[in-house]
Amino acid sequence: MQTVTEVKALRAMVRGWRGKGESVGLVPTMGNLHEGHYSLLKQARVHCDRVVASVFVNPTQFGPGEDFERYPRTLAQDQAGLAEHGCDLVFAPSVETMYPFGLYDTVHVTVPRLTKSLEGAHRPGHFDGMSTVVCKLFNIVQPDVAVFGQKDFQQLRVIERFVRDLGLPVVVLSAPIVREADGLAMSSRNQYLSTEQRRIAPQIQRTLEGMREQLTQGKTPAQVSAWAVDRLEKAGFDPDYAVVRRSEDLAEPAPDERSGRVALIAARLGDTRLIDNLLLD
Ligand code: PAJ
Repeated sequence: MQTVTEVKALRAMVRGWRGKGESVGLVPTMGNLHEGHYSLLKQARVHCDRVVASVFVNPTQFGPGEDFERYPRTLAQDQAGLAEHGCDLVFAPSVETMYPFGLYDTVHVTVPRLTKSLEGAHRPGHFDGMSTVVCKLFNIVQPDVAVFGQKDFQQLRVIERFVRDLGLPVVVLSAPIVREADGLAMSSRNQYLSTEQRRIAPQIQRTLEGMREQLTQGKTPAQVSAWAVDRLEKAGFDPDYAVVRRSEDLAEPAPDERSGRVALIAARLGDTRLIDNLLLD
């Protein structure tokens, strides 16, 4: 497994594979990899002859005061894990390589509407930065398939949307959320948690299960949301949202809608912001 930092070197590798008729999969990441990331790699392997993983902490998707500076950068460890999990090539570009015109003069990809709610409402600019870097990665690598986690559910929907709208020739696949034994969704941000916070953190997943239970009992999405916010607050969280949405477009479901729904939570424990979701129907 090789690691390249330049677009030219990456293109040469990909061209070699393509010349032999091999298909190429891409797994974009910000590094500090865990089993959640490796599950995406596994899925890419099933569908493609070759798999590229990108490792790039993308500055434009972090807002002011967010954790860009302290985001864990562990490339050596990631390279070892990626090699072990059957990755063919790591693309670990510099900020200058990804943003040749600088961070503020870059062309942006903006997905309307879908990016206004939930994460978009609480992290202004986040989805523009994310969409822009993922679009750049698609253009640089030109993969047949790209795999994303359902952990970042709205992100997945945003990517599917711009791929379709811009006519990008890539098949977007998704993989289920990988969890710790106690139910906490794996995340590079879990390591920010203190021992006490880590003990409380799995309550997000319990709350999502509770939301499903409440809906089964006939409660409305609004009642379920209020219940979940209260439960999270009592457990020590500061919730940004706990809602039931249509999984297809993240719009509010009609009161009688009983299929294709997802429960989504974003909540803070101290300085750490955690997100999770559960497909309901
Ligand atoms: P990052 O947070 O590193 O996540 C990379 C990919 O791993 C995303 O598709 C994410 O949904 C997936 N992932 C993370 N935790 C997971 C888990 N517990 N189970 C399953 N999948 C999981 O998401 C990003 O990076 C960035 O926004 C990126 C797409 C790389 C653009 O910069």
